[in-house]
Amino acid sequence: MKRRTFLTLPLLGLTPLLTHCNSSMDHLGSRRNLSSTLSLEPSSSILPIPELMTGTSFDLKLQKGTRQFLTDKTTDTYGINGDFLGPAIKVRNGDNISLNVTNNLSESSTLHWHGMHLPGEMDGGPHQLIQPGETWQAQYQVKQEAATNWFHPHQEGETGRQVYQGLAGLLIVEDDHINTLGLPSTWGEDDIPLIVQDRYFTADGQLSYLPSAMDGMNGMTGGTYLTNGVINATTELPAQLVRFRVLNGSNARFYELKFSDGHDFQQISTDGGLLETPQTLSQISLSPGERIELVTDLSGRTGQQLSLVDANNANKPILEMSITTPNDQPGILPEILASREHPSEADAAKTRTFELNMGGMMGGMNNNQSELFTINGQAMDMNRIDERVPINTWEIWKVNNRTGMNHNFHVHGASFYLLDRNGEFNQVAAYEKGPKDTVQVGAGDSVRFMIRFTDYTTDATAPYMFHCHILEHEDRGMMGQLIVI
Ligand code: C2O
Ligand code: CU
Ligand code: CU
Repeated sequence: MKRRTFLTLPLLGLTPLLTHCNSSMDHLGSRRNLSSTLSLEPSSSILPIPELMTGTSFDLKLQKGTRQFLTDKTTDTYGINGDFLGPAIKVRNGDNISLNVTNNLSESSTLHWHGMHLPGEMDGGPHQLIQPGETWQAQYQVKQEAATNWFHPHQEGETGRQVYQGLAGLLIVEDDHINTLGLPSTWGEDDIPLIVQDRYFTADGQLSYLPSAMDGMNGMTGGTYLTNGVINATTELPAQLVRFRVLNGSNARFYELKFSDGHDFQQISTDGGLLETPQTLSQISLSPGERIELVTDLSGRTGQQLSLVDANNANKPILEMSITTPNDQPGILPEILASREHPSEADAAKTRTFELNMGGMMGGMNNNQSELFTINGQAMDMNRIDERVPINTWEIWKVNNRTGMNHNFHVHGASFYLLDRNGEFNQVAAYEKGPKDTVQVGAGDSVRFMIRFTDYTTDATAPYMFHCHILEHEDRGMMGQLIVI
């Protein structure tokens, strides 16, 4: 069995293509004038598979590192138990787990368990700072269904920069039910994690964060795509059912995923768990923080090449695949994945409204951007509790995007179910109808969902957050705090 991990990742650029044409390099310098020599991207890099950690106690170390993303430059990075990104943690529903996070950086940070249902003080949000040299323990019982979640820092005002520098990893929940479905589940062989990100590299090969004021406004994007932390990722996949767990781990970029030959795939899960039935799709949109699992049938395609691309950006490749002989029985995807009761509007005790807005624009761009992005007219304040939500009570939340740009909306501590977009149920895509914790709210759109917090009340010392997951918007105020009472 081949096991590829971040630790055994060979140096990149094994076969650097030294005859890069100018057009493939354009994006490196397109937004700024770079007079010095441009750095070379490797023509291909083997897709690293994050180390899979199982058990109930996990040691995670936030640390500085360096990585050779580019063939001719070394980049300063942050990583978790490694130089860039982190391991994948797999836990089981019902287990009591302990996540021990040591901060070996020279700045404070936090680690938030995005998508997890847990006590507020274990959430790893802005109130659970870890000072340099300290270890913070998050201990809780897993009380949720199988899902592909993730972790990333969440320090007030610093989240975007710390994630951009490399701090993120997957947190997978399994349960007894999903194990009965016969889904592809051999890690790194037919169960492939894909952390999709984009970065902007300076001419000297460093990760440049917010080189222009507009990056803070629009959110930080870059023209170079990283998949599991490498540029131009390639992998071999067996000609059988293959499952991808895709995380949009980018700060701000929205992707439109599809295969280069346009073939259909089956989406099997949304952020917080399985869909009831697989959805057949030829492309799917993924905003920052969202996850999907999809399954594609590669049987009969031995010897072929295929890529996963971003249709939002001229079909830029995310992953190049060479299909090899199957090494297993070709699997069969079940017709029913899960059955769950969906709450209906009549179950809601109350409606809450969240207005996403941008302020402070009239005077033009200035350095004081901290109050530029608001929810219900207010920028995030760690000393203010915005919502007090009763436990075990269904509510309708309505999120109105009053701006001319796309945002999304993420809530900690609970999953939610979409009701409608712009008042129409059919504007909720079939692929959004599973449990969600992050939802796209396009420019001018209004989205309603049903949400209920269970199991844990919180107090003002450890509230849950709700925010836009474009990290620069979150850091600039588009976030609020809730407690469950
Ligand atoms: Cu993924 Cu509050 O964050
Ligand atoms: Cu979160
Ligand atoms: Cu936003």
